[in-house]
Amino acid sequence: MTNKEIKIAYTEYAGIDELAAKDKELAEAAISATATAYAPYSKFNVGAAVLFDDGEIVKGSNQENAAYPSGICAERTALFYASASRPNKAMAALAIAASQEGALLETPVTPCGACRQVMAQYQLKSGIPMRILLVGAHKIWEFEKVDDLLPFTFDSI
Ligand code: THU
Repeated sequence: MTNKEIKIAYTEYAGIDELAAKDKELAEAAISATATAYAPYSKFNVGAAVLFDDGEIVKGSNQENAAYPSGICAERTALFYASASRPNKAMAALAIAASQEGALLETPVTPCGACRQVMAQYQLKSGIPMRILLVGAHKIWEFEKVDDLLPFTFDSI
């Protein structure tokens, strides 16, 4: 028998001003995308922004539906749009932010399991690590790759 351990490293920043210029732009894009959320049920507005390896950024937000499961998270809106509109480009990073009553949450929002799985797939498709920025008002967490948020990802078929 062997006991094994997985360690997850991540970096914490005290605010977007501590980020490198492109990451700051990406974080700001995620924050601005919260304004486009359609969340009449939860009133929890989430924004996500995908950074391609050529510097382009596209955005998405959560879209809810009266038939609850028909809605979709901001991360998947952004990732699906990114892949559908730019199928041959590699995604290098994803930023996520959330706001309630117009105010950015203090603590970063952490993505749901389904979104983590979708992130993992697009990281695989892109062929490069996808960095993840979870953006809170005075706390930003940066993960170097999706595996840090979803170890033992299913990618076997
Ligand atoms: N939501 C996201 O868009 N991303 C997350 O990371 C967490 C949850 C959405 C789904 C739903 O519209 C609302 O937030 C409340 O769960």
